[in-house]
Amino acid sequence: MRAMKRYYLWTIGCQMNDADAASAGTGLMELGLRPTADIRQADLVILITCVVRQSAEDKVLGRLSSLHGLKRERPGVRIAVMGCFVDPQGMSPDRFPQVDAFFKPSDIAGLLQFAREQLGSGEPAAPPEPPAVCASVPISYGCDHHCTYCIVRLRRGGQQSRPPADILAEAGRLVQDGAREITLLGQNVDAYGQDLGNADLAGLLVALHEMDGLWRIRFLTSHPAHMSPELIRTVGRLPRVCPHFELPVQSGDDDILRRMGRGHTVDHYRRLVAAIREGAPGCSIATDIIVGFPGESEAQFQATYDLIARTRFDSVHIAKYSPRPGTPAARLPDDVSPADKERRRLLLEELQTRIAGEIHAALLGRTVEILVEERRRGRWKGRTVTNKLVFFDDPADRCGQLLPVRITWAGSWSLRGECVE
Ligand code: SAH
Ligand code: F3S
Repeated sequence: MRAMKRYYLWTIGCQMNDADAASAGTGLMELGLRPTADIRQADLVILITCVVRQSAEDKVLGRLSSLHGLKRERPGVRIAVMGCFVDPQGMSPDRFPQVDAFFKPSDIAGLLQFAREQLGSGEPAAPPEPPAVCASVPISYGCDHHCTYCIVRLRRGGQQSRPPADILAEAGRLVQDGAREITLLGQNVDAYGQDLGNADLAGLLVALHEMDGLWRIRFLTSHPAHMSPELIRTVGRLPRVCPHFELPVQSGDDDILRRMGRGHTVDHYRRLVAAIREGAPGCSIATDIIVGFPGESEAQFQATYDLIARTRFDSVHIAKYSPRPGTPAARLPDDVSPADKERRRLLLEELQTRIAGEIHAALLGRTVEILVEERRRGRWKGRTVTNKLVFFDDPADRCGQLLPVRITWAGSWSLRGECVE
């Protein structure tokens, strides 16, 4: 009898990579492979990679070098690398002899074909444990912007939107399998359809909103240049579309934004936030910031600090600028010292921790509706429509339920409460 083949899957990076990992897992199970958490048992090892900053790339390189030994001990093991580590211009085979194949980000079809050719296929394996309550669906790949610091678009290429019918069909299958919340993914999710000509995100939200059994719809990440009044109105008006916006601003200084090639000003961004808060009352807004971009002065950093203080975001993802090979900004001197980058990062982190703590404290004693996703460290975990993490205790199985929970404790990163059903 043919021995059961196993795959080991490792992922870092963004939600698009998580979505790729989920699709790869489903496809491999259909080929009859089983997942294993023990890499020594694996016939196929897959790394889904990120290189957005040097720190991520270092983790990938560390992982790759540890695979040298595995390949030496078991030359039969197949090693596949997918994601933004893979340069579409080509990978030098001499540099990573332990790797059998490289695949561009989201090239699930290529990966599955490789698995079929190398390992054959067997009886489809049963799906894993309970199906996920929250699933994600990529709606566009790649990006048409040219942010000067960013390697993502060099690795993922220009924007390619999926036809609405494909997206609706995939969402329908996920809901049939038990998903109650779907997050639509794209590097610039609000630019969805621009390359198709006859579709946009607002239209897609309207179509998804009709789907029976789908309770919540999210979308990320939005680019300020594409956030239209129509999209804001649509989010404000459709009850199942979560009023949560992931809207990276990157800097609070116009000169830095121009040199980042962002295509928006601070003023444009401020007006957009005001329009969103008016059009979708009670919404939450998250942003991304890069500190220490080449040439960022103390005054320019202060402008970013002030923007965060005044806007009062629900959450802020702060990164220290990291030069990426092949990007225009990498040709500029990386002249903000590591100590200054760290100091600026910490100042923003302290500010945002305080603001998030205050926003969350305002929820104390209030009852919010949460969708329960899973059990984590003995507690049920779910989110509000505004993407706030809530934990609560309950002896009953609450997974996949929409529940009213009264908030009894509020921290900067999460909330705790009790079910008041
Ligand atoms: N459009 C995508 C951007 C992907 S990169 C999105 O919004 O998800 C995700 C975040 O990583 C960016 O918003 C930026 O804040 C950060 N980032 C990208 N390149 C970086 C670099 N070279 N150094 C530090 N942070 C970076
Ligand atoms: Fe990168 Fe800017 Fe696109 S951050 S992915 S080039 S919007």
